[in-house]
Amino acid sequence: MKSDSNAPVTQELEKLGLNPDAMPVHVAMIMDGNGRWAKKRVMNRTKGHEKGTETVRQIVKACRELGISYLTLYAFSTENWARPKAEVKALMALLKRFLVGEREEMGKNAIRLNILGQIERLPDDVRQEAVTTINQTRGNRGMTLNLALSYGSREEITQAAKVIARKVKAGALDPENITDETISSHLYTGGMPDPDLIIRTSGEFRLSNFMMWQAAYAELAITDTLWPDFSRDELITILTDFQKRDRRFGKVTCSTSNDGSPQ
Ligand code: FPP
Repeated sequence: MKSDSNAPVTQELEKLGLNPDAMPVHVAMIMDGNGRWAKKRVMNRTKGHEKGTETVRQIVKACRELGISYLTLYAFSTENWARPKAEVKALMALLKRFLVGEREEMGKNAIRLNILGQIERLPDDVRQEAVTTINQTRGNRGMTLNLALSYGSREEITQAAKVIARKVKAGALDPENITDETISSHLYTGGMPDPDLIIRTSGEFRLSNFMMWQAAYAELAITDTLWPDFSRDELITILTDFQKRDRRFGKVTCSTSNDGSPQ
């Protein structure tokens, strides 16, 4: 098992002016804008996805260095299957190359890979490489990298409901004992903390069927930057802003009384 020492991370965060005790545990990203990035340069959309893959590598590295424990990247949605065949094929080829090419780096950096989504719908070769990387990185404890592939939040909640319904039907679960935690534990993210921060690139203000259950109390950060141009520096700016936010989780802050007047 590869373990992690926190001292270098703490030093790095302090150097950047970030509070090591107020870092998000789980950061999730909606990587949008590859197509627009390519269009602006009169290039094929695939070029945008290629440059986007380079950004993925840099952001994974940055998150690991910044001590983020869970990073989730929305790489391919259930809806993305409806894109032109050539684009789907190009995306699958990039994913396969990433899964093979980053295996060694994930090992060196103690990164564990997980897939969130319908892994069974992926082409055989991509699925096999995904399974190999998942198995090889299983013991790593530095950071968990979740790739959301053939992922859709509605599908995720629907499949969770089916499993729970089967347990009720079999008499293994009393409906009265179904709690939030029962639902959470049947999602692809079962056993992981909910995201504290969801970042979306390319300026759209929507979740696009991404982590709708898990996003209940997530802070949202929307940037106009297109995903291929997203950088470690911009991530640090977003983290700095995150640390200034007042996360109340539906309650009142300590400095405010029950009737809302300041104490
Ligand atoms: C959205 O941009 C992006 C995607 C649908 C795919 C994201 C994929 C990558 C960043 C590269 C491959 C991923 C990995 C993990 C290796 P868009 O095509 O919808 O852009 P647009 O809205 O500007 O058209």
